[in-house]
Amino acid sequence: MTQDTLLVCVLCRFSEAQSRVEAVPGQVLFDQLKQRLAESDSETINLRPVRCMGACSQACTAAFMVHNKLIFILSQLSPIDSVSDLLEFSYQYISASDGKVPYKDRPATIKQNIHAVLPPLPTHPYNHSGDNHAQIMSCETRHSI
Ligand code: FES
Repeated sequence: MTQDTLLVCVLCRFSEAQSRVEAVPGQVLFDQLKQRLAESDSETINLRPVRCMGACSQACTAAFMVHNKLIFILSQLSPIDSVSDLLEFSYQYISASDGKVPYKDRPATIKQNIHAVLPPLPTHPYNHSGDNHAQIMSCETRHSI
């Protein structure tokens, strides 16, 4: 994956009762992001739909990822209210060469809805030099990365 990418689960629903509602929140979130990105003049993130990311009880879910940058997995996103913050963070993420957008600069949704932050995937995943060990990150470092 060579382009900064925002994955959005288009199957996310909030509850069984909600499943009877026509609009699927995950699809609503994806559609809102797609529309806003189409209207943008700036370099935009590669928006991709996915069908489940295994955090179904934490709907809506999304993830920012690209090789050699931190991977941000977000959950409990509002399909409407989180759109502006996700877009703002997407521009910050594109601009940060290692994905380390300073915590203090992140939009509120990103600060409040982080499900996990993963170390970057190496560009060459089968490096046999032994340098491929995942970084260990603690909660204390999370806020400084
Ligand atoms: S349905 Fe969205 S994470 Fe499973």
